[in-house]
Amino acid sequence: MNYKKALKHTVFKIVSQSVEEIQVDAYVIGGFVRDYILKRGSAKDIDIVAVGNGIDLAKQVAKNLPNKPKVQIFKTYGTAMLRHDEIELEFVGARKESYSENSRNPVVENGSLEDDQNRRDFTINALALSLNKDNFGDLLDPFNGIQDLENKIIRTPLNPDITYSDDPLRMLRAIRFATQLDFTIETESLNAISKNSSRIKIITKERIVVELNKILESPKPSVGFLLLEQTGLLEYILPELIALKGVEEVEGQRHKDNFYHTLEVVDNISEKTNNLWLRWAALLHDVGKAPTKKFHKKIGWTFHGHEFEGSKMVYHLFKRLKMPLNDKMKFVQKMVLMSSRPIVLAQDLVTDSAVRRLVFDAGDYVDDLMTLCEADITTKNSKKFKKYHNNFKIVRDKIIEVEERDHVRNFQPPISGEEIMKTFNLQPSREIGVIKEFIKEAILEGDIPNDYDAAHNLMIEKGKKLGLKVSDHD
Ligand code: CTP
Repeated sequence: MNYKKALKHTVFKIVSQSVEEIQVDAYVIGGFVRDYILKRGSAKDIDIVAVGNGIDLAKQVAKNLPNKPKVQIFKTYGTAMLRHDEIELEFVGARKESYSENSRNPVVENGSLEDDQNRRDFTINALALSLNKDNFGDLLDPFNGIQDLENKIIRTPLNPDITYSDDPLRMLRAIRFATQLDFTIETESLNAISKNSSRIKIITKERIVVELNKILESPKPSVGFLLLEQTGLLEYILPELIALKGVEEVEGQRHKDNFYHTLEVVDNISEKTNNLWLRWAALLHDVGKAPTKKFHKKIGWTFHGHEFEGSKMVYHLFKRLKMPLNDKMKFVQKMVLMSSRPIVLAQDLVTDSAVRRLVFDAGDYVDDLMTLCEADITTKNSKKFKKYHNNFKIVRDKIIEVEERDHVRNFQPPISGEEIMKTFNLQPSREIGVIKEFIKEAILEGDIPNDYDAAHNLMIEKGKKLGLKVSDHD
């Protein structure tokens, strides 16, 4: 089969010309070919394998490109990279590899194209298109990758035991591709992942997180998390989720399985948002339930304070996975901490003051919080399902109404501490805090509107009650 059409970009012509000039064979391989055939849009990362020296080829290509880009060389790996427009070209010499037992770093030996295809992760990632003059665009597919693409199957070119233990990251990649592309991992491969799951320990946290993020960014992330659980990988990566598994029964009272519930919530939210961090919040919103679970004879199962516990766990989990401990982490913490607030609201009569407090506490994240809470409704009781969604609709409308009127989203106290000090001729003291809090509470409760005059009057009233005298200058 010929795929000249995939190679229309001028950059391929230039590589082809360079190949001719330095007398090596070269092929486009991997994700670019896979995604072209899957019609996923052409990838911006292009991997080129040279049967010969990849670095020399990269240098020749750079010479022939009009903008003469810089070639970045990674000597230890024998690879080179250059950028042309928005495209990133990565060059590597064909290898026959064996890996050392305790690290992913391979011992490299030169090899043929087929040797190189053999050592790649999956048949669908081993598809190569020729860049050589005499067969430009020809597909080289010794492991029936095209057939696996058609049948939506993830399969390794070699015995999967070898492929995965050579590079354990591939276990996660298999699950990530299955989730992203809606493919099935072939049985032998899946068994090999289960067998080798503990080898994931040698993989750096950063690389694990790249794959986790891609799973979470997929249309239906539960597919990946179920596979991670089924193969034993999840235990090593996110034991906090494994701890949510199972249903306990005491005196005939059961609680729901919070692991499967969580996965439903993640799928639900993924239909509504592409925000990765909101998806992380959905994944972690119940993690505090495992350590806080208790059974009480009178009231049954409780998870008191699980939101607070969970938000603390978010920090430890991000730290362990070497994820950024920045505003993204704080956002996830805030979502987890507040995850039950709108639900409590929606179960009851929705009052203005409760909504005002919600907006005050959630600030700019109130919409995200609502999205999370709506996704959290997984009840199979259709009456309850409808009722909660209706109530959430009321909450959402009220949020808009209350916000237009009271502006509490990014609340700025209408009366400053300084003004209180001046009004009552006070030195810095406890009373100032008391008055400020009193005004804020009155606004949130709806006793007074959020404006200066009302707040000023209340300040005078409260000050007098506290035994303060209005100073002469006021
Ligand atoms: N590869 C591999 N084993 C790995 C990583 C990569 O064999 N652990 C090979 C595969 O042939 C893959 C190619 O290197 O197609 C490029 O890898 P990468 O750029 O990481 O992934 P892509 O397949 O391009 O897919 P994506 O961009 O979605 O990550």
